[in-house]
Amino acid sequence: MPTSVILLAAGQGSRMKSDLPKVLHRLAGAPLIAHALDSARGLDPERIVVVTGVGAEQVDAALAEIDPDIRVVRQPEQRGTGDAARVALSELADATGDGTEGDVVVLYGDTPFIRPETLESMLAARAAGAAVVILGFEAAEPGAYGRLVLDDMGDLAAIVEAREATEDQLAIRLCNCGVVVADAALLPGLLAEIRDDNAKGEFYLTDIVALARKRGLTAKAIICDEAETLGVNRRADLAAAEAAFQTRARAEAMANGVTLTDPATVWFSHDTHIGRDTAIGPNVFLGPGVTVETGVEILAFCHLEGCHVSRGSRIGPFARLRPGAELAEHTHVGNFVEIKNAIVDEGAKINHLAYVGDAHVGARTNIGAGTIFCNYDGVFKHHTEVGTDVFIGSNSALVAPVSIGDGAMVAAGSTITADVAPGALAVARGPQVSKPGLALRLMSRLRALKSAKAGR
Ligand code: UD1
Ligand code: CA
Repeated sequence: MPTSVILLAAGQGSRMKSDLPKVLHRLAGAPLIAHALDSARGLDPERIVVVTGVGAEQVDAALAEIDPDIRVVRQPEQRGTGDAARVALSELADATGDGTEGDVVVLYGDTPFIRPETLESMLAARAAGAAVVILGFEAAEPGAYGRLVLDDMGDLAAIVEAREATEDQLAIRLCNCGVVVADAALLPGLLAEIRDDNAKGEFYLTDIVALARKRGLTAKAIICDEAETLGVNRRADLAAAEAAFQTRARAEAMANGVTLTDPATVWFSHDTHIGRDTAIGPNVFLGPGVTVETGVEILAFCHLEGCHVSRGSRIGPFARLRPGAELAEHTHVGNFVEIKNAIVDEGAKINHLAYVGDAHVGARTNIGAGTIFCNYDGVFKHHTEVGTDVFIGSNSALVAPVSIGDGAMVAAGSTITADVAPGALAVARGPQVSKPGLALRLMSRLRALKSAKAGR
């Protein structure tokens, strides 16, 4: 039976107080909506339809980048979750055989932690005969959440929005987190029956529960942990979601055999991969797209993003690996070294104060302290090719495009603008001139000048 997903993301998110649509705010380096899409993708659905509205241009563009196969449908006016789901039906029709087959899962774009396993258990409840399945949780503070009203059988009788609830209903702790699984054949009919004669003047998706029950159908609630339902409404929620993500990522890394000296100061992204027996010191930030193999040492205060670090390498302290940094096995990258879009081969060392950009550095090559790869001419970026077993002396500038052959040496302080042949020594700096005794004569003249001035 095909499963389709409707992801609701048309709301304003006004409590974020932001020009950026809420679902594009980042959690662990990825937009919130990408996390919700991950939950959806875990079900391997036939189709995903995202409902956009406020800030739709930006959201559509971000979605196209994440996955061009996602269908997007515009909700012209935010008339409630029921209206949003109805708008999505047109895009679902062919995936669900004109809405007659399978299941439809409704998720929110601002709810990033729903686990695929939880959705699977909702689908199982559907398969066992419930027409509508709702994901509920015991709320610490039920506040504005919709309340789940159960019948004597423990089935779901209705969802009552907080504004509509009686005092007795408000006392219910079991709340609706927003995730719905419904029979695709019934959903269009149920949605068509929803009315907006309520406190908010909106079409409540939650009304499909009572409508299904009225038809003699069964509705069930599946209960999950409150942490899983965490939704982002304000910046403080975003920070809480980030903290929750980081706590889990740190625990997972350690459980997988990664040493974290001070876990609370190591920051992971949604797609970070760290191999076992890698050790990470305090205050390390791992941005999106980082893969670190096994047995790597990342010392304190490193910033990594979009890079690959191979087995047995040592990074930092205070190193920065930017997108496209590809380090082979047993490389050393030391303090205040920045590497961008560069392949560094096995055993190469770049230990102090260097910039390596748009380059290939050969195996066992040593890049001296303060070396700068001058990759940018103000308009274009150029490539620097450094061979194997090369020695680049300290404080050299390699002006790209340029290539240094295997086994070559560059004298310290050189500004290299022409290719260096394999095995050659290049010196590109002013020759040293030495004037015997001149320093002493110069110094005594300066001292005399100073005392003459003081005497005046
Ligand atoms: C909704 C539920 C409530 C539940 C709560 C959990 C309804 C009527 N109520 O309330 O039972 O406890 O979520 O957080 O469903 N959206 C649209 N178009 C719209 C309106 C909303 O796409 O016209 C999207 C929003 O972007 C958001 C989601 O739907 O992602 C939920 O909307 P929101 O207005 O936050 O619903 P609540 O009133 O919080
Ligand atoms: Ca909400």
